[in-house]
Amino acid sequence: MLPEGMIPRSCRGIWFLKPIRIIATFPALGNICSGFSLSDRFCSAAPLRDLRSLALLSILHSMPSSSPSDSTPPLSVHLPVLMREVLRAINPQPGQIIVDGTAGGGGHSREILKRIGETGTLIGLDRDPMMLKLAAQKVQGENVHLVQASYALLPQVLEDLGIAQVDGILLDLGLSSDQLADRRRGFGFAAEGPLDLRFDTTAGEPAWQLLERLNEEELATIFMEFGEERFATQIAARIVETRKRKPILTAQDLTTVVTAEVSSKRSARSDRQPATRVFQALRIAANEELGQLEVFLKSHLQDFLKTGGRGAIISFHSLEDRLVKNAFRDKHRFRLLTPKPVIPAAVEQRANPRSRSAKLRAVERL
Ligand SMILES: C[S@@+](CC[C@H](N)C(=O)[O-])C[C@H]1O[C@@H](n2cnc3c(N)ncnc32)[C@H](O)[C@@H]1O
Repeated sequence: MLPEGMIPRSCRGIWFLKPIRIIATFPALGNICSGFSLSDRFCSAAPLRDLRSLALLSILHSMPSSSPSDSTPPLSVHLPVLMREVLRAINPQPGQIIVDGTAGGGGHSREILKRIGETGTLIGLDRDPMMLKLAAQKVQGENVHLVQASYALLPQVLEDLGIAQVDGILLDLGLSSDQLADRRRGFGFAAEGPLDLRFDTTAGEPAWQLLERLNEEELATIFMEFGEERFATQIAARIVETRKRKPILTAQDLTTVVTAEVSSKRSARSDRQPATRVFQALRIAANEELGQLEVFLKSHLQDFLKTGGRGAIISFHSLEDRLVKNAFRDKHRFRLLTPKPVIPAAVEQRANPRSRSAKLRAVERL
């Protein structure tokens, strides 16, 4: 586990303290998330007092002028994974109340909404306001509530909506292709924007700041714990050595540093980008992803699913999947619907290579 104090105090648990924002209860589409400016964000995160701040501002000014959440984004390019399998697991019926805890571009939500119909209620959560704007293009109606909040805040969201329990909850963890494609946020290896990696850019600490602030041992622990990176200590040492000379502020900067350290050490047969595990680790740290999932698994599924209600979780790496597998084993709370994880059929994997690492597990609440 990470040593106590590694994630800054100001960052730990911040999402639990933050008030949730009901983004839209349709048809109030016009209310959807207020825009924020990248420059504002970085001025508050790093006051203009040193060269790093100047370097950041110059990166920001070289980016396209629109921020991630101003103006209406184009349609989602994300292909929802395991759609048929998710619908079979959750089995949404007319009139039911279903939570999509990671609404993303609204792909799963749309199909769920078709099945629960006008008498049902769909609650879509996402930490990223940009994603909720995209979801809003796919799911609309008096019975749709899109809320900017972590699924870890489900108790507060339901309380605000006056709902005690629901019939189904879906989590499709991780990152959407839309976030990956947004070159201003640092999710892609070649992104020119600041290496932020947060889903909610108003909470916690951006990844570039973690790279600057944490010491070598702390960085190595993050790469090991959250990325299962074999060369964690060497990469951490290279980062600390590099940052003495120049700051690592963008995804491109980080990719260059990691690639220089590991490309000669990795198997020539590996088709993975050498920085894949380091990016994953930093993203998990910047969003406190495993902590959010643990909170949800520990109590929310049990507390907020009706008896007979269904919970389904899609994970994309072994750290998440292990947490889900262990929680779903609890025979006092759940009936396991997937003795083995469900993975995408070969045809889906071919059509959508990003689906290759997806694993779906589902339970029924006893
Ligand atoms: C794989 S995408 C979901 C795609 C979605 N199922 C669809 O069909 O378009 C994952 C989404 O979860 C969101 N997310 C990640 N962690 C979250 C959390 N703790 N609470 C709510 N949303 C989260 C991300 O911002 C991202 O939009």
